[in-house]
Amino acid sequence: KKFNVAVVGATGAVGEELFRVLKEYDFPINNLVPLASARSAGEKIEYAGKEYTVLELTDSVFEENEVDIAFFSAGGSVSEKFAKFAVDAGAVVIDNTSHFRMEPNVPLVVPEVNPEDIAKWREKGIIANPNCSTIQMVMSLKPLDELYGIKRVDVSTYQAVSGAGKTGMEELVKQMQDFFTFKLDESEKNAFAHQIALNVIPQIDVAQANGFTKEEMKMVNETQKILHKDVAVAATCVRVPVLRSHSESITVTFDNDVEVDVNEVREALEKFENVEVIDDLENNAYPMPIISTDTDITYVGRIRKDVYSPNIVHFFNVADQVRVGAATNAVRIGLKWIEMESEI
Ligand code: A2P
Repeated sequence: KKFNVAVVGATGAVGEELFRVLKEYDFPINNLVPLASARSAGEKIEYAGKEYTVLELTDSVFEENEVDIAFFSAGGSVSEKFAKFAVDAGAVVIDNTSHFRMEPNVPLVVPEVNPEDIAKWREKGIIANPNCSTIQMVMSLKPLDELYGIKRVDVSTYQAVSGAGKTGMEELVKQMQDFFTFKLDESEKNAFAHQIALNVIPQIDVAQANGFTKEEMKMVNETQKILHKDVAVAATCVRVPVLRSHSESITVTFDNDVEVDVNEVREALEKFENVEVIDDLENNAYPMPIISTDTDITYVGRIRKDVYSPNIVHFFNVADQVRVGAATNAVRIGLKWIEMESEI
């Protein structure tokens, strides 16, 4: 069977990557329906050697095009307003925004970690794609939880500008160009609260009453929902001048009686689907954004046992935000959904 597939936000950073990933994974597409705002309606998209015209996102476009699967990646307010029209037209919505993630009857899925949750999609017609930082983190937490039982996670992120979409990426590039022509002072600073070139900004998304940011609390709440476990999580989310891969420094505290064996940790991570270990410090080998960018792999390295507490391990984790953190995860959800539906 082949499906009519809509991509909402077709002209955005994640939308454009979605087309590449759909093609690479040979997604069973009958008709492709690229959707964006009226600003880009009429633009052309190439997919598998065929040209498609971007249509304006409207209430009726899903029904008119008999859409079966709708990927949403145009911001929370667009999903809030338009997902229901896709659902009413009989489509499954795979939503990349934060809008539906914490609704109890909406599954929040990383296919390698909690594929079984997809079955709940019928309750609202929606499957939510987690936050990019959460996805790559739970990819490494799941095998470790199975190995030893996780009690607490402390994480600091080093997040690429791609998380702020095309505008974020363009702004970093422009500021770097302006630096070399001595014009950085006058360069535009709209995508982030501060200049991002030659800087590090310890704030992603808005402040919350508890002193954390919204991005940090997403990592807490989403991790618990995906792992089905009240694991304690404390996050510090930081924007760095990297184009498109997020890095994370992660400290995991296991149950009290655990005695971490670094080789066991390494083995559990290596065995996990779509995780690869690069961990040879003496030879300067560890995960970095320039390694993970344009791949579908979550890389883990710098694995070391805590010097003081035998039940604590530290490691570093890197993945492409646009792919692993968004487009690839969405496509993998779609493929898993197809597999599960065809078994019914
Ligand atoms: P458009 O190009 O027409 O503005 P990014 O995350 O890279 O900034 O991309 C955002 C994506 O979401 C773009 O494809 C953008 O389309 C789309 N988008 C933004 N606002 C709307 C809207 N109100 N209706 C439909 N698409 C939207």
